[in-house]
Amino acid sequence: MRFGGLAALTDVNFGIGPGELIGVIGPNGAGKTTLLNAMTGVVAPTGGKVTVGDEDFSRQPAYVFARRGIARTFQTPRVFPEMSLHDNAAFGALFAGGDLLHGGHAHRAAREALDYVGLAGEERQLAGALPPARRRLLEIAMALTTRPCLLLLDEVAAGLSPLEVEQMGELINRIRTEKNISIVWIEHAVATLMRHAERMLVLHHGELIADGATAAVRADPRVIEAYLGETA
Ligand SMILES: Nc1ncnc2c1ncn2[C@@H]1O[C@H](COP(=O)(O)OP(=O)(O)O)[C@@H](O)[C@H]1O
Ligand SMILES: [Mg+2]
Repeated sequence: MRFGGLAALTDVNFGIGPGELIGVIGPNGAGKTTLLNAMTGVVAPTGGKVTVGDEDFSRQPAYVFARRGIARTFQTPRVFPEMSLHDNAAFGALFAGGDLLHGGHAHRAAREALDYVGLAGEERQLAGALPPARRRLLEIAMALTTRPCLLLLDEVAAGLSPLEVEQMGELINRIRTEKNISIVWIEHAVATLMRHAERMLVLHHGELIADGATAAVRADPRVIEAYLGETA
């Protein structure tokens, strides 16, 4: 992925299997968000390939990814502040289309997802009135209503209290195990991330410097030097 003269991602090559929970770490500016953007049609990769199953999805628009079951959140939550929590969640179902467009499916999906993330009882509130931690939960609910097979999370625990970070980790692990959704989770809360993710990707200056089992990546000298430091 190049932006003019800047190589934001170079030769990044990896696959995601069913039911995997993969953590992504790396210093600010390493290309983590760009990786999710290039994988979801938010930016069009200038080279390489994005495949889903056997299909080539390179340079497809975002809604095509959504309809194929690829859902995501944004580093800065993108909710509709003037809409209720319920309508925000229902929007996810409508964006992903399919049979969710018929009858009460979108409404039912919205109620279920809000309940699942712990926002039941607040459906009629406006999203703009939510504190940041709950705004991130709403974004996850919006992603769940699309009925994804893969969920991509960009720093959903940023700015949360230590207790909220823990609860977020447990929610994400539950989504993986109960709903059998593969997860790619970018986060700086390394301890929580590594407790739940069995595999880690490490980006540094747009290059994938490590991809492997969490214990091995944690002990990798290149990863320690680039990101973790001696104390991790
Ligand atoms: N749309 C864009 N246009 C130009 N440069 C971008 C764009 N998006 C990201 N970048 C640049 O790509 C690099 C990686 O950014 P980013 O993916 O946001 O890193 P991270 O999420 O790891 O902090 C940075 O140098 C950033 O300025
Ligand atoms: Mg980022």
